[in-house]
Amino acid sequence: AATKTANIKPDLQRVLPGRIMSILIKAGEVAERMGYQVYAVGGLVRDVLLKVENLDVDLVVEGNGIELADQLAREIGGRVRCHEKFGTAEIIFPDGYWVDVVTARVEYYEYPAALPQVEQSSLKHDLYRRDFTINAMAVALNPDRFGELVDYFNGREDLQIGAVRVLHNLSFIEDPTRILRAIRFEQRYDMAIEPQTLRLIKEAVREKILARLSTERMWGELKSILEEADPEHMLDRMWELGVWDYLFPEITFWEVQYVISEIPQALMILRNWGWTEPAEKWLPYFLGILHLTTQETAYQICQRYNLGRRQTDKVLDTIAYGRVALKRLAVAEEVPLSELTKIVQTLPREAYPLFLTLLEDKTAIRRFRMVMESVHKNKPTVNGKDIKEMGYQPGPMYRKALDAVWRARLDGLVHTREEELAYVQSFLEHHQAPKMQPKQAKARH
Ligand code: CTP
Repeated sequence: AATKTANIKPDLQRVLPGRIMSILIKAGEVAERMGYQVYAVGGLVRDVLLKVENLDVDLVVEGNGIELADQLAREIGGRVRCHEKFGTAEIIFPDGYWVDVVTARVEYYEYPAALPQVEQSSLKHDLYRRDFTINAMAVALNPDRFGELVDYFNGREDLQIGAVRVLHNLSFIEDPTRILRAIRFEQRYDMAIEPQTLRLIKEAVREKILARLSTERMWGELKSILEEADPEHMLDRMWELGVWDYLFPEITFWEVQYVISEIPQALMILRNWGWTEPAEKWLPYFLGILHLTTQETAYQICQRYNLGRRQTDKVLDTIAYGRVALKRLAVAEEVPLSELTKIVQTLPREAYPLFLTLLEDKTAIRRFRMVMESVHKNKPTVNGKDIKEMGYQPGPMYRKALDAVWRARLDGLVHTREEELAYVQSFLEHHQAPKMQPKQAKARH
């Protein structure tokens, strides 16, 4: 295919923050001085053309990538971590932000002697190794070419027509995670997997290509999907294409499909009620997927994907207490707010979206909302530090005292900070909480 020359510098300027622009410009200047060509590639280029912000800078260097990374870091700050063996490096800035730099190797491919630039073709090889045409574009950064779009595989056109297309027929065999990536990009950008690519996916699934994938890589892709803005359609597509069974063979998709499809709406409602999004964005969906399984099955799935203990506990707690909590919230008689709160609190916060989708009648939803809002409004001011200053030994009584004062607040028994402190004090005395030894108490001050 003929390479189209277009300059997208105005798009870069419009879409990217100043900090990223400066890095790109500087990279081009440094490369020029070293006699290299440097390009920004992949997701950033794709997203700039879609006018979507993307902060992930991936640089490909025709030349020595590690040397370029070193010099660039010297001029813009940041330290370099390099992997000599692969010719790759990361420039890591003090705030944790980083830029990836890779060397486009001049490979053993033999070219007709007439071919003028070996450099050009080494970029092309780097791009050819990638997953989809929309991800295989580059932007030149050297000053005299800054903003020039390099598009060997018609990625720009595929973006315009909305096609997810592989570069060659062996793509999914080379890297089965691309099956999940195809689904993710298709749904994220509201595009369509192009017919030939779709055939290749179906063929690969039929040949059980996904069974070769390590659970670790599988989990990586699954997590990426569950952290997208709208994972529910991706999960539908996984089911449709026969991918689901490789990830959750123990779970029948259609039994959980409805609940999953309602989670985005629930997330929105909860945000309006003052609930803050959990750090692990994938967990509400993961709980939606697992909520009908038994504890044993859920445990096995958590083990398989190597989830940590805290995360596993959240899954198991949701399954163990979810149903009971639902029933209690649905009973008609008046239960004090503090009591309801205690019930809701047996569940991890990440289960609230699932919980809300499972609540059926209006009264129960109204109560859940009351709990959520009052929890938000009634946060007590006393904390563990206050209790320590009262001279109590750190231990389980701390949590109990704090829960108690919190319930007292919800039920309107205490209002001011003074009242809270007095309440905690009497609670601890009443329960004969252990005091610190005088020496210990002194050492802490
Ligand atoms: N890539 C690939 N095959 C994979 C993973 C990645 O070819 N299995 C290539 C793609 O060209 C991709 C680039 O590596 O653009 C960077 O990968 P990654 O950061 O995972 O993807 P992005 O395209 O940046 O997507 P996202 O917006 O989800 O970060």
